[in-house]
Amino acid sequence: MPHAFEIFPTAEDVASCAGARLVAAIAARPGPVAICLSGGATPQLLFKFLAVPPLRQAIDWQRVHWFVGDERLVPEHDPASNMGVARRLLLDGAAPRQNVHAVRTDAADAAAQYEADLRQFHAQLDAGSPLFECVLLGIGPDGHTASLFPGSASLAQTERWVVPEPHPGVPPLVPRITLTPPCLGSARNLMFLVTGPSKRQIMATVAAGADLPATRVRAAFGTTSWLLDSAAAPSA
Ligand code: 6PG
Repeated sequence: MPHAFEIFPTAEDVASCAGARLVAAIAARPGPVAICLSGGATPQLLFKFLAVPPLRQAIDWQRVHWFVGDERLVPEHDPASNMGVARRLLLDGAAPRQNVHAVRTDAADAAAQYEADLRQFHAQLDAGSPLFECVLLGIGPDGHTASLFPGSASLAQTERWVVPEPHPGVPPLVPRITLTPPCLGSARNLMFLVTGPSKRQIMATVAAGADLPATRVRAAFGTTSWLLDSAAAPSA
């Protein structure tokens, strides 16, 4: 199936639309809700929007649990830490501490521990529910998403929810862990946020129907959306 792109004038418009959808997704579901945040630079604008009114007030923080789709194995104070960025821009002072699910980056079995955390969260949901209410993702110039890189064996995972990625294909060249396609796809809403001219070429490749890590990940329980700003949109 071809990917339908939603194209917005600016990166601010992309963040604003994503924020409104995320807030609506949380409000639509009673009880505990899991959100999977993406790493990289693109979602930072969204984090900033979510951190202030009116979106901040619209989130029922007590029942929202925050995870990351991948993590660089560095301490949280390192600027390369995905959860560190999310905490500083969004979660600190808003999310209850126990609702922030960080990767134990110093543990030898960080991937297995994070998978256990995700499975424990999922086990408390109603039977048959997806793990995530909302998953945010980005795409790299090589088509990677989360830390699923082209050619990686992790793309074929059907059992594991989280796996190590010792040799990422792009900087920062630090070992990582990543959620796998079935785990990321256990979602009702999955949104790719793609902004800036450096993404235009890979988006033309996506539009052409290429098989890439990012195009392998789909929401198994709902909608997969591609939100682009005009700078990232391939020419018609
Ligand atoms: C990471 C990611 C990665 C990211 C893309 C896009 O931790 O690096 O989760 O998949 O989303 O590389 O990154 P940018 O938003 O920085 O372009």
